[in-house]
Amino acid sequence: MSEEIIIRDAVKRYGDNTVIPALSADIRNGEFFTLLGPSGCGKTTLLRMIAGFNTIEGGTISFGEQVINDVPAHQRNIGMVFQDYALFPHMTVEANVRYGLKFRDVPRAEADKRVNDILKVTRIDQYRDRLPEQLSGGQQQRVALARAIVIHPTVLLMDEPLSNLDAKLRIEMRTVIRDIQRDIGITTVYVTHDQEEALAISDRIAVMNAGVIQQIATPREIYSRPANTFVAGFIGHSDFFRVRCDNGRAWFNDHYSVEIPTLADGASGTATAGVRPEDFCIMPPTDDASAGLKARVLKKVFLGRYINYQIAVDGCEALESLEPIELSQDISTARHEFAEGDTMSVTLRGDLINIYAADTGVSLMKGVAAR
Ligand SMILES: Nc1ncnc2c1ncn2[C@@H]1O[C@H](COP(=O)(O)OP(=O)(O)O)[C@@H](O)[C@H]1O
Ligand SMILES: [Mg+2]
Repeated sequence: MSEEIIIRDAVKRYGDNTVIPALSADIRNGEFFTLLGPSGCGKTTLLRMIAGFNTIEGGTISFGEQVINDVPAHQRNIGMVFQDYALFPHMTVEANVRYGLKFRDVPRAEADKRVNDILKVTRIDQYRDRLPEQLSGGQQQRVALARAIVIHPTVLLMDEPLSNLDAKLRIEMRTVIRDIQRDIGITTVYVTHDQEEALAISDRIAVMNAGVIQQIATPREIYSRPANTFVAGFIGHSDFFRVRCDNGRAWFNDHYSVEIPTLADGASGTATAGVRPEDFCIMPPTDDASAGLKARVLKKVFLGRYINYQIAVDGCEALESLEPIELSQDISTARHEFAEGDTMSVTLRGDLINIYAADTGVSLMKGVAAR
């Protein structure tokens, strides 16, 4: 039976090195929950703590009502899928899948039924007599998945299971994993450093940095209302500008401001605006400084349906921008096309951009919280 996973102030130390200071998360029963963050932020460490392969130096991890800190890994009823599949090379597909049931008291007839069912669900039935080396990477990953779920685990844990596959297969397999997870409805914790994969596959995402959860929310919320500037920069692309907030408006310079409809009440003074490429609207140049920000086209790339412009925005303060701002123009709706060296005017979608505290980088938008 699937269970929720409750993590309370969990601590992980390696010697003097605290990798996870105090991490809490509620992972709902049946949920597809993804740990997303840069390499080295502690995703694998946390997953191994849930699995029981790592000790816990503080706090608790529970499956449902049961605290499992001291339950050994083999008694936690975990299904686990690793990046390198870890299949037995000398065993057939069927034997690999059946292997998980060997050390459990599952009667022969029941074991046969489960193996057959799982081979069908993961669509590797026709390869049941092959050895792993006779399978493609995607098929091997299906075998690893079948072996993990045939035991009817309480929770399913996956650590970057698709990172050895090529880009096309990764996209195909993430749909396969998502569909199978929905089918069997099992609580799943999935680790990836690939933000697009996380957005596509998850019910909710925990964005981690340096062992600390930055935000737990749905893919949609994470993308459109990041809890802080780290999340805004890590998920998708954001350009940051120094602004002044006053009466629900953000001023980019003395002349140009936009209304921010969901700016928190009382947010005023110096702040940081996070603007995604799609939050800019491209307009013909104008002398009216209150109508938009002046920009220069540095580079133009024609891509068929889209034109990409690299631009430099003048007359306002861009922050931490090492690269020029890049915008796409959809040619089916574009009314003005620009050439390299042209000036344009850009306006900003106040309903889409986000405002963050200048010092802490924490969101100043109404209703946006880290969790
Ligand atoms: N067995 C270990 N002993 C010492 N340090 C470790 C060990 N495993 C991981 N670490 C350290 O813990 C941090 C987090 O690692 P990890 O959880 O593997 O990150 P991620 O999976 O997010 O890339 C890293 O700084 C790593 O060097
Ligand atoms: Mg890892």
